Amino acid sequence: MIADIVVDLQYGDCGKGKIAHALCAKNDYTHVIRYNGGCNAGHTIYHGGKKFVTHHVPCGIFYGIRSVIGPGCVIHVDTLLKEISELEDAGIPVKELLKIASNAHIITDFHVAEDSRDEKIGTTRRGNGPAYRDKYSRKGVRAIEHPKLQNYIISMYHELYENQDFTDLEILFEGAQGFGLDIDWGDYPYVTSSHCTVGSAVLNGVSPRDIRDIWGVAKIYETYVGSKDFEGPDEVFEEIRELGEEYGSTTGRPRQINWLDFDSLKMAARINGATTIVFNKMDILEKVNAWCLYEGPNLYEFRSQEDMRFWLSSKIGLEINEDIDIFFSGDKEFI
Ligand code: IMP
Ligand code: MG
Repeated sequence: MIADIVVDLQYGDCGKGKIAHALCAKNDYTHVIRYNGGCNAGHTIYHGGKKFVTHHVPCGIFYGIRSVIGPGCVIHVDTLLKEISELEDAGIPVKELLKIASNAHIITDFHVAEDSRDEKIGTTRRGNGPAYRDKYSRKGVRAIEHPKLQNYIISMYHELYENQDFTDLEILFEGAQGFGLDIDWGDYPYVTSSHCTVGSAVLNGVSPRDIRDIWGVAKIYETYVGSKDFEGPDEVFEEIRELGEEYGSTTGRPRQINWLDFDSLKMAARINGATTIVFNKMDILEKVNAWCLYEGPNLYEFRSQEDMRFWLSSKIGLEINEDIDIFFSGDKEFI
């Protein structure tokens, strides 16, 4: 068994969907597994020039790959069923390919109602926090207990270790949210309620021995959605928000913007063991022609894109790991 992991190094919305989608085109995966989160996530994917936003369904579905909602996820059933029928209408055979781990958890309407009263964190109000709370307090409902999901249910153990249909499994793990929103490593309490690191992928049933590549995904600037103050004072952020379409794909809220924070990136890349780092949205900074980042309290302003790339590549090599592959991407569909 071989597994690659796509993990977000910032606050979500860095383009994991794009990377996962591109990796599916390049590799012979037998499975794509979503390992955390629920319908708080919104993955924007451009497939064949068409835009799709998925919340629950892993991106393997676009390439005819068996796609699993793993045990680390929580599911709002009606949202999922709606997503399935919309994708089916677009000609994608979801019903055939989608599988749900029996031990994933359900987001009930009570969870949604409770979360919709949130004022403090600025959640997506999709019921994720209350669903995870009930899971951990052992009052939750598992996917296998839900009548509407029966056609999709699998045993994760059987699927990974005893399914005779697969001799060599090649798996892509697709994460949701990001390091800065991780329940343990993020800026608590302004976090989501699940684990958003590679550790979370491993919790879904694949052993650490089988991990191959870890794709850390970042943006060349940072964004965050939620209640804490995040945006910097620079006027160019307004322009970046418009050009970069920095509005939540689940809630439509404007994302707060700031320059890349190298120390946070370093921490996320180290803890996740990134073997590759992709910086997305290069095209947006190119358009506004502003190249800045923070290192600790210092704000560096570079004269050109090349200077910023050089600084980042050298620092990543020196301070994180010299073997990390680095990509700078400015395309919606390709790396
Ligand atoms: P929750 O996950 O809905 O409980 O929200 C907790 C925090 O995570 C809030 O700041 C949300 O805006 C943020 N969040 C949750 N999911 C995503 C996502 O997919 N992208 C970006 N931010 C997210
Ligand atoms: Mg998103």
